[in-house]
Amino acid sequence: MRMIDLIEKKRDGGELTKEEINFFVDGYTDGSIPDYQASTFLMTVFYKDMTDEEITNLTLAMANSGDVIDLSSIEGVKVDKHSTGGVGDTTTIVLAPLVAAVGVPVAKMSGRGLGHTGGTIDKLEAIPGFQVELENDKFIKLVNETQVAVTGQSGNLAPADKKLYALRDVTATVDSIPLIASSIMSKKIASGADAIVLDVTTGDGAFMKNIEDATRLAKTMVRIGKLAGRNTMAVISDMSQPLGEAIGNTIEIEEAIATLNGNGPEDLTEMVYVLGSQMVVLAGKAATLEEARAMLVEALESGKAKEKFKEMIANQGGNPEIVDAPEKMEQAKFVYEVPAKETGCVREIHAENVGIAAMILGAGRKTKEDSIDYSVGVKLHKKVGMDVKEGETLVTIYSNTEDVAAVREMLYDNITIGEKVEEPALIRGIIT
Ligand code: URA
Ligand code: CA
Repeated sequence: MRMIDLIEKKRDGGELTKEEINFFVDGYTDGSIPDYQASTFLMTVFYKDMTDEEITNLTLAMANSGDVIDLSSIEGVKVDKHSTGGVGDTTTIVLAPLVAAVGVPVAKMSGRGLGHTGGTIDKLEAIPGFQVELENDKFIKLVNETQVAVTGQSGNLAPADKKLYALRDVTATVDSIPLIASSIMSKKIASGADAIVLDVTTGDGAFMKNIEDATRLAKTMVRIGKLAGRNTMAVISDMSQPLGEAIGNTIEIEEAIATLNGNGPEDLTEMVYVLGSQMVVLAGKAATLEEARAMLVEALESGKAKEKFKEMIANQGGNPEIVDAPEKMEQAKFVYEVPAKETGCVREIHAENVGIAAMILGAGRKTKEDSIDYSVGVKLHKKVGMDVKEGETLVTIYSNTEDVAAVREMLYDNITIGEKVEEPALIRGIIT
């Protein structure tokens, strides 16, 4: 087999066989296929698209390119949750203990973040002592005994995707639905869950800027998940503005605690119940979404979910006292209120640029080598559709540098106040 023939076939609109796709993935991973041929191949996929069968074969080939985690020694149906990315997305930190509190095993592998704020793993590291690198045996033991553990992705999970993603990043081929779908699903399949709940975000702060593309991505991922033998569904959610109020690390842990106490932002709380109900049903612990939701509400209101969070923190070496005393986490030196310049309704909060503002403060990474300043970030006091009066606090900035003029300007530029608009719908679709 020759790579040039595969490129030519795809260029002319042909459909690649499983053997051809395996040839490409194996060859690129072991270095026998050079970057220039892989780049050209990715660009032909970008323009010519792929059939479901091609995407499934690409996904499986990438999933099998490295470690495939075996979770079969964990009892019960293991359900994973994955978001295609957003700004200030605190969901997993609330969901993991909440869903575990109703008896669903949560074996969560999460990533670090690049750009905006940190990933879930970075946010958890804001908790003093919290260990995110768990040995496989310990990870499985914790989930078996306590229903929940969150760990960083194993270094050798889907190495083909790692290499291809780096190439896509510099060849303008990230924004391709077959490539995004196979990239995400290869890692989900290699991490061993039986069932997968996807949160496909749409809007300014997401990969998919419009609902049509988000729907296509969601349908594609659900189909390939099922073709790979994993029960998969997707929720399409709004990411035109950040989720919740806090965008940072320490402040997102505080937001997660508030949510577990029943005092969290409305949108984050709803997101947690919607995704959590789907997870509980896929795990076979409830027959209907209504029943699942009632179980989750009970676990939250009774304090069981909060206790589970403390247990999870203690199990992973962290200080569980922060749940009752969040001020024990590292705090920012400077706290600045940003007042509204006019009276009106918040019409837009550009998620991506607000995320970048938090990153400039130090909450996220510009490059892989950057370190994160856990204590900094921004908190939104008004979300889209809410009324605000001139002088009222719009945003709080948490900073370790005194001069935040540039960040303040950036926030003003990206939050529009004007005539009344409706609050945007959070859930934009469900794909099963
Ligand atoms: N996240 C991934 O893991 N891969 C993509 O291609 C896009 C988002
Ligand atoms: Ca948040």
